[in-house]
Amino acid sequence: MKILGARILTLVLLLCALSSGQTAFAASPKPSANQPACADCHSGVTSSYAHAAMHHALETPGANPTLESHPNLSVQQGQYLYTVQTRNGRSTYSVSDGTNALTVPIRWIFGQHAQTWVLEKDGVLYESLVSYFPLDQGLATTPGDAKIVPKDLMQAFGRKISAWESLQCFGCHASNVVKGKKLDLENLSPGVGCERCHAGAEQHKADAARGNFSSLPKSLKTMNAEDAGNFCGQCHRTWDATVRNHWHGPSDVRFQPYRLANSKCFIGNDPRISCLACHNPHQQADHNLVSYDAKCLACHGETATNATSAAKSCPVSKSNCVSCHMPRVPLPGGHAIFTDHLIRIVKPGEPYPD
Ligand code: HEC
Ligand code: HEC
Ligand code: HEC
Ligand code: HEC
Ligand code: HEC
Ligand code: HEC
Ligand code: HEC
Repeated sequence: MKILGARILTLVLLLCALSSGQTAFAASPKPSANQPACADCHSGVTSSYAHAAMHHALETPGANPTLESHPNLSVQQGQYLYTVQTRNGRSTYSVSDGTNALTVPIRWIFGQHAQTWVLEKDGVLYESLVSYFPLDQGLATTPGDAKIVPKDLMQAFGRKISAWESLQCFGCHASNVVKGKKLDLENLSPGVGCERCHAGAEQHKADAARGNFSSLPKSLKTMNAEDAGNFCGQCHRTWDATVRNHWHGPSDVRFQPYRLANSKCFIGNDPRISCLACHNPHQQADHNLVSYDAKCLACHGETATNATSAAKSCPVSKSNCVSCHMPRVPLPGGHAIFTDHLIRIVKPGEPYPD
């Protein structure tokens, strides 16, 4: 990282937690019935967050729009036939080798757009070997599982996930996931909850209800580019984690903090290139690419808000910057596409810059 924004103690602690290979999970008290809701006092944020992908990062069975609108999914993978069927809000996942079949109810739905299912069989958790992709409107191999060549029906059913890995999965896609040091499947709250980003918010809510506003959660508004990369990188993966784990090749396009920090635009102590400059975490990502022009022009061009760090302007175009300088890159396998946060001049035919 170019400039170290080491001023916030909690971020330092967080990085320590990450470098020991653990995600930092905030254990939080459960809400009780007579308390107000966040929505009572923060209605705008709460109602927009209800539609955000992060709020829906994990879902439990019942009226899932994707599964409801695709009630009969199936794909043949080698000798195995996979089917995902939905009836009356309940979905089942099934794999058959033509002679025998294994069928289980789907219990955990990961992902709002693409979906992978975490299945439970005989008390063990498995990741489904096939996932749903909106690009295909159908099933294909789960990202990362392409190397698996199943030798029997049980191996074809899913990839067994260890206790440690399932803690990580649920830790990024849900809230209140740990009790003691164990995964608490019964009591977790699906999706990234308010408290997951705003540590101390449950306590603040309880205090606020009694008119005490002395325990406000720490404001996250002032994060610079480096702070935000580390904060959002708890789940989106930090620059450090990506380098340390040698996650390279086109799959690393999904690790935005890493890609962004490798851009010439990235100035660690500058909030104009932080995740929050372009994304409101309480909303869906804005798909209207022209809306990002102002973010680029805050540094490039005459309107640069800070003359001392004004960057060069474009000789080619005055608008729609993202469409040329943040190319869309397919994941290996081609079933999902990400926006490359390595902002750059794209040269035709160049290999993926790592
Ligand atoms: C009884 C009203 C009330 C309830 C309930 C409440 N808050 Fe607040 N909250 C406030 C007030 C008042 C402030 C201080 C003014 C402000 O920043 O909006 C505040 C401040 C905050 C801030 C700091 C904002 C900043 O950037 O400085 C966060 C974050 C926050 N609340 C989150 C939550 C969450 C999450 C919940 C639910 C778990 C919650 N609040 C429940 C009234 C409430
Ligand atoms: C607790 C883990 C976690 C943290 C912390 C987190 N994210 Fe996410 N984020 C996710 C997950 C999981 C998804 C995928 C949700 C899905 O599509 O199901 C996601 C999706 C997104 C998306 C895509 C939204 C869309 O409309 O498709 C954006 C943008 C995003 N996050 C930005 C941020 C920013 C900015 C921060 C830091 C302020 C942040 N995230 C922090 C877990 C997290
Ligand atoms: C370190 C945090 C982290 C872990 C661990 C993690 N995820 Fe995610 N997951 C994310 C984030 C952030 C995104 C959004 C960006 C992306 O697609 O990479 C995401 C995206 C997804 C998506 C695609 C969502 C969409 O709407 O396109 C699926 C499906 C998914 N994860 C399933 C899983 C499963 C299953 C596991 C465990 C085997 C897991 N994840 C482990 C953070 C995590
Ligand atoms: C993925 C992380 C994340 C989640 C989840 C999240 N927030 Fe925030 N929140 C932030 C960040 C980052 C900021 C500061 C960014 C800004 O103000 O531009 C913020 C700012 C706020 C603020 C103060 C600014 C404002 O817009 O009023 C309030 C209040 C707040 N959040 C409440 C909530 C509530 C309530 C929820 C749950 C419904 C929630 N947040 C969920 C990351 C998150
Ligand atoms: C200069 C603007 C900019 C900055 C800074 C930025 N993003 Fe993005 N991001 C975008 C654009 C543009 C898209 C594509 C939006 C679309 O088409 O839906 C996007 C999409 C995403 C997505 C959806 C998946 C994907 O890759 O297409 C995630 C998740 C995301 N950003 C996370 C982050 C995180 C985390 C940070 C901070 C490390 C960050 N972004 C910083 C502009 C930005
Ligand atoms: C924090 C300020 C800042 C922001 C915001 C920013 N940039 Fe930059 N950008 C720079 C600096 C500094 C350089 C390097 C030197 C220069 O161009 O003056 C640079 C370089 C570039 C380059 C040349 C890269 C190369 O490979 O030579 C392009 C293209 C670019 N930026 C496009 C964008 C686009 C598009 C956006 C918005 C999505 C953006 N920038 C947002 C500061 C910024
Ligand atoms: C149609 C595609 C396209 C669009 C749209 C576009 N650019 Fe460019 N940009 C380019 C190309 C191609 C170059 C390289 C030109 C060259 O080297 O002769 C470039 C060069 C640049 C450079 C490097 C300038 C230098 O002197 O080194 C910056 C900075 C930049 N663009 C920023 C932006 C910003 C900011 C926007 C939006 C206001 C934008 N671009 C819109 C294609 C585009």
